[in-house]
Amino acid sequence: MAEQWSSRLGFLLATIGAAVGLGNIWRFPSVVGQNGGGAYLVPYLFAAFVFAVPLLVLEFAVGRSLRTDVVSAFRTVGRRYAALGWVVAGAVLVILSYYLVLTGWVLSFFVASLAGVTLTFDGFAATYWPAVAFVVVTGVVAVVVSAGVKAGIERLSTTVMPIVFVVLGGLACYAVTLPGWAEGVAFFLTPRLSVLADPGVWSAAFGQVFFSLSVGQGIMLTYAAYVDEGTSLWKSAGVIAVADVAVACAAGLVVFPIVFTLGVEPSAGTQLAFTTLPRAFAAMPFGRVVAVAFFGLLFLAALTSAVSLLEVSVASATRATEWSRPRATAVLMGGVFCLGVPSALSYTPAGAAVLGVPFLDFVDASVGTFALPVTAFLLAVVFTWAADTAVVRAELGRAYPVVKYAIPIVLVAVTATTAAGLARPGWSLTAGSISDGLVRVAPTFGVLAVLLGVGWLLRDRVRPRRWRR
Ligand code: PFF
Repeated sequence: MAEQWSSRLGFLLATIGAAVGLGNIWRFPSVVGQNGGGAYLVPYLFAAFVFAVPLLVLEFAVGRSLRTDVVSAFRTVGRRYAALGWVVAGAVLVILSYYLVLTGWVLSFFVASLAGVTLTFDGFAATYWPAVAFVVVTGVVAVVVSAGVKAGIERLSTTVMPIVFVVLGGLACYAVTLPGWAEGVAFFLTPRLSVLADPGVWSAAFGQVFFSLSVGQGIMLTYAAYVDEGTSLWKSAGVIAVADVAVACAAGLVVFPIVFTLGVEPSAGTQLAFTTLPRAFAAMPFGRVVAVAFFGLLFLAALTSAVSLLEVSVASATRATEWSRPRATAVLMGGVFCLGVPSALSYTPAGAAVLGVPFLDFVDASVGTFALPVTAFLLAVVFTWAADTAVVRAELGRAYPVVKYAIPIVLVAVTATTAAGLARPGWSLTAGSISDGLVRVAPTFGVLAVLLGVGWLLRDRVRPRRWRR
């Protein structure tokens, strides 16, 4: 018998832990800032509840019905689809390789705040600490995943997610006392309907929601394989979406009042967390406590997400081979580590770069941005078109056409808008981000093609499963 969550709460906190991460607390405020503040909330909420939730339910239905990982779920649809499952698992590992680097930055800023040191990002990048932190974080994530679903992932999530909620709530209360609160909240929450005509804003909203909810990458499919039959998938998806949106909004209610109190630029993009905020913390009353709380909660949120990214392929590898979980974790994490080294060295004196762009930014702007809609597209299309199963139909009910028709169309449109350079990059890590669509799209499809080739060779490694209710 495969592993199971010990309770529904365990399942919910693990999935919320997967969803809530850097995307909510760091990326969301920066995307909002770049896309005209409150204007952006309308497409964002629409994308979350109308599109992401049904896709979440699709992943849950497939995972629970087959009680299996993403690769063998694709294999169940047909022999040639197994390769696509490996594409999803592989793309998620590429994302993990730089997500770990970012998590390492957060850990470093947390440790520095604890020690009472005010780090500047430039000062930090002038050392090799980013690489050291990457090694540490990689080790921690590997230890958690190799401990297993219950003893590792569930235990971590049930311990840290309540801390994340409480600390974030505390910070939001503190933000109310700041002189810039009203202005920050007004910027954040006032919808400006004129920008709704801008396709770039819609594209950014869809991109952000899929990223933030961890949907369309087989993460939720994998976690649902461990859930019991009695759990309502729609209710769970709703709870996860509400929690994810709530954390993002709370992060906005913390970040924007700080930004307006100090009179800094809200559209600083991703620089916000590592340049603007540390400066702000240094100048604020109780700034050190606030900095410790902010980076601490950001680290815990990122950790549970990184764990979920690794679990996708560990689950697949243990089923495709005779390997034990610790062995599969060690092998895969070894690969991710090698892949992550150039990203980890991007912001160090080594300055790893491609075409003059820091390697980390390059991976993020290419695979990090484009693999996500591609894998989401594969999941939506394969499990509604190639396999038109009773389980999925029954579970999705009236939302079935949304997944079968609307989501694939929207994903193609989002990818095209971003590739055409109409959407501002949501997560541009430095001022000189790459806007050239081709430079970003071509490597992505190169990587996906390699994964497809490897997946094709490995397609007979997994056995099909049987659909059941
Ligand atoms: N959803 C998490 C976040 O918002 O940070 C983690 C994540 C999962 C990020 C998958 C990116 C991704 F492609």
